[in-house]
Amino acid sequence: MILRAWRGDITTLAVDAIVNAANEALLGGGGVDGAIHRAAGPGLLDECRRLGGCATGEAKPTGGHDLPARWVIHAVGPVWMGGDNSEADLLASCYRRSLEVAVGLGARSVAFPAISTGVYGYPKAAAARIAVDTVRAFGADHPDTIEEVILVAFADDDLTRYVELLAADRGPVAGT
Ligand code: APR
Repeated sequence: MILRAWRGDITTLAVDAIVNAANEALLGGGGVDGAIHRAAGPGLLDECRRLGGCATGEAKPTGGHDLPARWVIHAVGPVWMGGDNSEADLLASCYRRSLEVAVGLGARSVAFPAISTGVYGYPKAAAARIAVDTVRAFGADHPDTIEEVILVAFADDDLTRYVELLAADRGPVAGT
C-alpha cells in the first residue's frame, strides 16, 4: 500500500473513494462535508437520506454522483471532549472502518480528509498520528487490497505534519 500526503481540495481527486468527515445525521454540514455535498450535487443528499444516519466511529458508502470519485465513504469522527471519552479509539475506527468499506466496494485508491480536526476540534498532531498508524496497520494486515491511500491536507501546516510523520517512520515520502 502506498501511503502519501497531498495538499488540496479532496473533492477534486479522481480516486475510487473519498472519505467524508460527516456527522451522525449524514445530511451534510459545513467544512469538508459541505464541500463534498456541493461538488457532488443534490443526488448525494437524496442517497444519504436513505442511509438512516451513521454512528460515531462508523462509515457508510454512497455513490460519488457529480464528483470525480466513484464513491464517497461517509465516516463520523468523534467530537474532541478532552481525550477521556474514547476519542482516539473512535477516530482510529473511522479510518479502519472506512478502509474496510472501501475493500468491500472494490476500491483500490482512497483519500481521507483530516477527520475530526476541524469543527470537531480534535488536536491535529494527535489526529495525524492516529491516521498514519491506523492506515499503515490496515495495509500490513490486508495486503493486496487497497493500493493507495492519500491523506489530504487542506492547509500547509497539515501537510507538513503528515509529511514529517510519514518520513519519520520510513524512508523517503512519495510525492506530496
Ligand atoms: N478538502 C479537504 N479537506 C478539507 C476540505 C476540502 N475541501 N474542507 C475542509 N477540509 C479539512 C479541514 O481543514 C479539516 O482539516 O477537513 C478537516 C475536517 O474538518 P471538518 O470538515 O470541520 O470536519 P470535522 O472536524 O470532522 O467536523 C465534522 O463538521 O462540517 C461539519 O457536517 C460536518 O458536523 C460535521 C462536522
